[in-house]
Amino acid sequence: MTDSLTVRDNRTGAEYELPITDGTIRAADLGQIKADDDSPGLAAYDPGFVNTASCRSAVTYIDGEAGILEYRGYPIEQLAEHSNFLEVAYLLIHGELPTQEQYQAWEHDITYHTFVHENVKSFMQGFRYDAHPMGMLMASVGALSTFYPESRTISDAENRRMQIVRMIAKMPTLGAWSFRHAQGKPYVYPDNDLSYTENFLSMLFKMSEYKYEPDPRIAKALDTLFILHADHEQNCSANAVRSVGSSQVDPYSAVASGVGALFGPLHGGANESVLRMLRRIGSTENIPSFIEGVKNGNERLMGFGHRVYKNYDPRAKIIKKAADDVFEVTGVTNPLLDIAKELEKIALEDEYFIQRKLYPNVDFYSGLIYEALQFPPEMFTVLFAIGRTPGWLAQWEELVQDKEQKIARPKQIYTGDRGLEFVPASKRWA
Ligand code: CMC
Repeated sequence: MTDSLTVRDNRTGAEYELPITDGTIRAADLGQIKADDDSPGLAAYDPGFVNTASCRSAVTYIDGEAGILEYRGYPIEQLAEHSNFLEVAYLLIHGELPTQEQYQAWEHDITYHTFVHENVKSFMQGFRYDAHPMGMLMASVGALSTFYPESRTISDAENRRMQIVRMIAKMPTLGAWSFRHAQGKPYVYPDNDLSYTENFLSMLFKMSEYKYEPDPRIAKALDTLFILHADHEQNCSANAVRSVGSSQVDPYSAVASGVGALFGPLHGGANESVLRMLRRIGSTENIPSFIEGVKNGNERLMGFGHRVYKNYDPRAKIIKKAADDVFEVTGVTNPLLDIAKELEKIALEDEYFIQRKLYPNVDFYSGLIYEALQFPPEMFTVLFAIGRTPGWLAQWEELVQDKEQKIARPKQIYTGDRGLEFVPASKRWA
């Protein structure tokens, strides 16, 4: 067996042999296939990159058919059960698990970089009272690039590491302050005695008490959610970070673009849409008519379907269990959980969803947990962004070191007019 593809161009009768490496052909190899000497070479048309590998990556492995997700080779189920978010962040960034000493140094560094410059606070206070926290997060992460101008020297590994530590450390501070802003409450400074997730809870919920004491079970649940969101290979926001990062801009600007991508309802914003959908359905009796509407193409079943998973999203399984645990701790029984479970049951038995391999994704249950933890829907995607930050940075670090990478610049198929003669407005409007 030869690892190559023979292509016959029926326009010319010419044959070409294209090497196959790692199950791919090089799109650039298609360029030699031409109808005649003057025509441009053949290109691949792939809106949404549904079948195009944009990089080599050793960060995250997904087998969408089998429902497998691994970070640096470790199954997500094991990490969610036995690790913590900071250790997973270390793993994603460095490629291997830390020794005890490495972990302690990492935890110390992250903890002591949670504070932001006071001007960041004033900057954030300038937002309108009802500013969406994702808009505030996107802007304030981007603004950090102006506080650390040295971050533009991306060729220096130690410098990159510094910005990575800063960003993982500061995202919860920015996220929590966006939340406090919307509530008209004073911003709470980080508490270095607390763990990463506990400190985040303190910055979110502390009021007049001298020291905030988070419920360890809630902190654990949130930490698990961060782990589940930490990376997901070449998704829309990772691709945005890589694409913007490929211009060699500083990492704050690259990550700000990732936050922007995550804001969209088809990506990180889906959990917010799931809750709205469940509320709209209102009761289990209304599920059949809602499902009919989805099948007729009038709407989407939010929290279902995935570009990669054609099986149950492994993260959704862990979250479904975490939802039960959180409800036990908070004592809140949410009728929307019953609607979600029933909706899932009906959809999984329905031919429309079976045929299209549509299963619950990570967002189907996460919103319910966040709501039980007293987060308003606008905050859900902020939580996703905090969890995803190490993943974005691991992808960025890999990009910067990858000698094969170039500035991202896709081709297009031009469909517009050509060579029109411009008539000045004064004549056109006369
Ligand atoms: N409800 C109803 N039909 C759906 C859904 C859905 N949620 N998702 C896909 N389909 C149908 C779609 O209409 C199409 O049917 P047909 O072949 O008859 O035209 C078929 O399934 C394939 O869908 P697609 O839109 O071509 O698939 P995609 O890979 O482009 O989209 C997706 C993936 C996640 C954007 C989509 O499934 C979707 O919109 N889901 C709802 C939003 C959502 O839950 N997003 C969170 C994704 S997971 C978190 C993250 O990683 O960001």
